[in-house]
Amino acid sequence: MPIQTRVTLLEGDITKVQVDAIVNAANTSLLGGGGVDGAIHRAAGRELLAECRILGGCPTGEARITGGYRLPAKHVIHTVGPVWTGGNHQEPELLANCYRNSLRLACEHRVRTIAFPAISCGVYGYPIDEAAQIAVHETFAFLKQNELPESVVFVCFGREIYAAYRRKLGEAGNQ
Ligand code: APR
Repeated sequence: MPIQTRVTLLEGDITKVQVDAIVNAANTSLLGGGGVDGAIHRAAGRELLAECRILGGCPTGEARITGGYRLPAKHVIHTVGPVWTGGNHQEPELLANCYRNSLRLACEHRVRTIAFPAISCGVYGYPIDEAAQIAVHETFAFLKQNELPESVVFVCFGREIYAAYRRKLGEAGNQ
């Protein structure tokens, strides 16, 4: 199956998406927060926080998997994006690791369909075009080497993010 057909784009709320796993843009404590982290915890219910407490946190760039509880998704993959501080503190590598490690965990847990938010593009202030480029590039590279996940959907909250991802997907599709 050509990679382009396995990667799609959606504008909306990731907590509503019917996939095997949704990815959370968490912080290193894994104990919830605002943005998509807050939305996912609110939708999943308090059992999610109870399971996260046991995990003992997550370093930036790494990923952890939990149940989805009251979410439509069976799993939540929590990954911690880098805070943008100008681009000279390994931000691109750390953001790339978020996508690689989330996709690796999904593959290991036989996840077939996965949804990503725009990691680090909110509170963490990552420039949207650069972040979308990393997201699309790393996802295409992973899917080229792996049968699972079968499909990836980028769930964009708002027009600006959606437009950026659409541009980057268009560029990748033409390569
Ligand atoms: N569905 C999809 N995307 C969403 C949703 C949602 N329900 N809510 C917010 N977003 C989008 C934001 O608009 C942004 O484009 O998710 C992207 C990531 O933004 P943040 O949630 O602010 O995450 P991030 O920039 O990675 O910062 C992480 O914020 O919420 C805290 O605990 C979290 O400390 C961590 C930090």
